[in-house]
Amino acid sequence: MADDDTTPDLTRGVRLGDLPLDGVLAGALGTGEDAEQVLLTRYTDDDGEQRVSAVSATCTHVGAPLAKGLRTGNLVRCPFHHACFDLRSGEALLAPAYEPLTRYAVEVSGEGDDAVVRVTGPADEPAPGPEAAGGAASGALDKVVVVGGGAAGFAAVERLRREGYGGELVLVSSEPHPPIDRTQLSKFYLSGDKPEDALPLLDRDWYAEHDVELRLDSEATVLDAAQRRLSVRGSDGAVTVLGYDALVLAPGSEPVRPELPGLQRDDVHLLRTLADADALVAAVGDSPEGRRAVVLGAGFIGLEAAAVLREKGVDVTVVATSEVPLRRQVGEEVGRAVRTAHESEGVAFVTGRAARWSDGVLELEDGGRAPADGRADLLVVGTGVTPRLDLARSADLALAPEDEGGGVVVDARGRTSADGVWAAGDVAAWPDATTGHRRRVEHWAQAQRQGAAAALDLLGRPQAELAEPAFFWTKQFSRQYRLAGEVPDLSPEGGGTTEVDGSLSDGDAVVRYRDADGRVTAVAGVGRDLEVLRLEEELLRP
Ligand SMILES: Cc1cc2nc3c(=O)[nH]c(=O)nc-3n(C[C@H](O)[C@H](O)[C@H](O)COP(=O)(O)OP(=O)(O)OC[C@H]3O[C@@H](n4cnc5c(N)ncnc54)[C@H](O)[C@@H]3O)c2cc1C
Ligand code: FES
Repeated sequence: MADDDTTPDLTRGVRLGDLPLDGVLAGALGTGEDAEQVLLTRYTDDDGEQRVSAVSATCTHVGAPLAKGLRTGNLVRCPFHHACFDLRSGEALLAPAYEPLTRYAVEVSGEGDDAVVRVTGPADEPAPGPEAAGGAASGALDKVVVVGGGAAGFAAVERLRREGYGGELVLVSSEPHPPIDRTQLSKFYLSGDKPEDALPLLDRDWYAEHDVELRLDSEATVLDAAQRRLSVRGSDGAVTVLGYDALVLAPGSEPVRPELPGLQRDDVHLLRTLADADALVAAVGDSPEGRRAVVLGAGFIGLEAAAVLREKGVDVTVVATSEVPLRRQVGEEVGRAVRTAHESEGVAFVTGRAARWSDGVLELEDGGRAPADGRADLLVVGTGVTPRLDLARSADLALAPEDEGGGVVVDARGRTSADGVWAAGDVAAWPDATTGHRRRVEHWAQAQRQGAAAALDLLGRPQAELAEPAFFWTKQFSRQYRLAGEVPDLSPEGGGTTEVDGSLSDGDAVVRYRDADGRVTAVAGVGRDLEVLRLEEELLRP
């Protein structure tokens, strides 16, 4: 807090010598509860000169205190979801953040370490930015079309404009609203803590002000990559054909609905879109206490939904084929700890294969049932997702084999097998930075980084996004689990192993995942954010 003894008031000044060379000094502009929190950084600039910068201390993604993050060189990594900011300019370099930190002007008076550093107010000059890359500057790039109004499509559009691309820009999305933060649907939106108007990544005005044509409620149906044409069916059924110079394909994935009797009924809920979340919120109703839900599938989304429903007072039973949830994704120890944490909050688990949903009961193949007695009011299906590949198939793009997770094959810059087409997000199978394996993940930050990387590459700019370990987080009750890198095959045949340091049951541990050769390829953590950041950096070291 600003009036705390240990938080200096930066308007009054601090000694230059008190600024660590490898860390940041957290202070405030003034005193009192509402004083703006600011980070002061001493750094060596590209010209070899020592300088001091001041930027706001709160991550622009969802507000983590950056003072608890990790400084590397002139960058700071956010402790929550590993966004990265330039401490000199405040620019958001790595998703999931995209809005910059506020920069403040700094005055240094005196000599040597005893010089006094004072923050005088908001910086007047703009941070150095990229040069405009309009149609003329980038040669043939007059029109870019982005398919998909999710994480990846949004990031591509935002980054193109941020980089100064001034040509035509069209975002085609089958959703009826501009891009939203989908990750909140199974967390704070479902719980009621985040209202609908807090979901948009940027408000509608931003698209208008940045001359982005939003084609919402519109389905791209055919991609003709040879002719560089995309057919789009609007909400009125009319089909238009859009030409393009470059196209970013980011249609994401869709939930799998098992083909079982009863799963088409109205009391069965998937969770991908805002409309899905609204239907679930309505089904739970204003008096959730005492209502009963069955969750089919113990993947991340099923478990997040189970946790929130339970927190709302719903009686929840999770049905899964494996006794240990998430075993394949995060291993036995973390999976068991997640299950125990749910059970301690009153979530029941049933192991079995679903056969049908009938009259509020999920009947299992072995004759079992969920809930154990009585009837549930609703069923949430969280049995995984499948990438939307129709457009890629219509353009004959190279696809990865099913045993590699399928998806559109892209190279380390996000380019597909067709000239002028990039792919990003849940559909893209790319060479993982940690292991070099081509793979497809369903991670929010990765989708945004891939969208931004595609934007940079199509502008001919260098990109670093895809050289980062893939990052994922999940919130289950009060615990946030973070995972970076590629978890190896942990089956006996795969030979991967886990090493737990700390107590998973107490929510205070890191886990290192080693492949069959003993190399750490992934790290997970709960309650140890800084350590996960440090270990994530090590993943890329040879
Ligand atoms: C409820 C929920 C919670 C999640 N929580 C987390 C989390 O905590 N952490 C994490 O790392 N990940 C999380 N994820 C996963 C993450 O949201 C996805 O990996 C990410 O959204 C993928 O981004 P994307 O852009 O590839 O796809 P999406 O975000 O799914 O966007 C795809 C877009 O393309 C549109 N589209 C599809 N086909 C067409 C077409 N033919 N024409 C026009 N538009 C089309 C869709 O309507 C949509 O707008 C969560 C996912 C869900 C559903
Ligand atoms: S709060 Fe910083 S990346 Fe999410």
